[in-house]
Amino acid sequence: MVGFSDLINVTNQRSNYIPIRSWDLPDSAVTPEHMYMRRREFLRLLGFGVAVTAVLPASLAAASFPDSLNPEYKLNGVKLTPEDLVTSYNNFYEWGTSKDQPKDQANRGWKTESWTIEIAGLCASPRKLLVDELIQLVGGIERRNYRHRCVEAWSMVIPWDGFPLKKLIDLAQPTSEAKFVKFISFLDPANCPAQRANELPWPYTEGLTLAEASNELAFLATGLYGKPLRNQNGAPIRLVVPWKYGYKSAKSLVKIEFVAEQPPTTWNVILPNEYGFYANVNPNVDHPRWSQKSERVIGGGFFSGKQPTLMFNGYEKQVSHLYAGMDLRKNF
Ligand code: MTE
Repeated sequence: MVGFSDLINVTNQRSNYIPIRSWDLPDSAVTPEHMYMRRREFLRLLGFGVAVTAVLPASLAAASFPDSLNPEYKLNGVKLTPEDLVTSYNNFYEWGTSKDQPKDQANRGWKTESWTIEIAGLCASPRKLLVDELIQLVGGIERRNYRHRCVEAWSMVIPWDGFPLKKLIDLAQPTSEAKFVKFISFLDPANCPAQRANELPWPYTEGLTLAEASNELAFLATGLYGKPLRNQNGAPIRLVVPWKYGYKSAKSLVKIEFVAEQPPTTWNVILPNEYGFYANVNPNVDHPRWSQKSERVIGGGFFSGKQPTLMFNGYEKQVSHLYAGMDLRKNF
């Protein structure tokens, strides 16, 4: 398994910040000892000093959390992933490259309170506002249980709190030239050592077509399990696109921009042959280095933890029309 030093030079000749990510190896290849050594190496390489004060999750005190689920998004008969696994097994490369690091590293003084988000680009009503204000403006939050499928072939089921992205789009009023939506994560090298180390093209950036972003399922999450988002899950606001591989769901957003052209997106720029722009969950199109036919259910146990992957992660009915006539092998 790799340390952050390996990110710099190994996989691709095209650029000098090309990583091997933890996505690139099955999790079973990781032993606790390796993880421990990796974290130590990561800290040493990035020049972390002694631990600073732990910080509480983002405060969304003004926003009340719903106590009931939107019945349309209940996922009957599906077991929720335990909260402690959702908040301790994370991909958030700004805070480390192994699953256990974000919980630790993103809670050593990184402040996600009083966070502003900018709505910009080709729209009639651009603005910059506090996340709490945005929540009020869109009429509060609802809860939805969504399947979450990572390109690494593991999955969870998460009860998110938040609001449909479509509500923000209606607020912004994109112009007729707007065809795509760009999602930009935080950039804070002063407080995020990995961003100082410069190994990835920060900030983490993702994109959707405007039609995808307007789909009823596209969601902006501000909480999970009825509590404000933990830093490691993308506090205080993140994208959730449940029919796509998890890397589309950019965390800790500072800007949402309406644009005319398909925006460059982080993993697609780094490894275009492996991580497409569309990234729709598709059991019929394998990753060049592993199968996407099945997934390991996090918390599912050693013997019962594998299940077949569903087309569009089980959301075919809601989203297949977006891709009518499209070659999904080419547009992976
Ligand atoms: N967003 C940012 N800013 N940085 C990241 O490294 N990782 C992505 C996505 N969003 C990532 C990100 C990947 S690969 C996945 S699978 C999901 O976040 C993981 O979300 P979770 O940790 O809440 O399960």
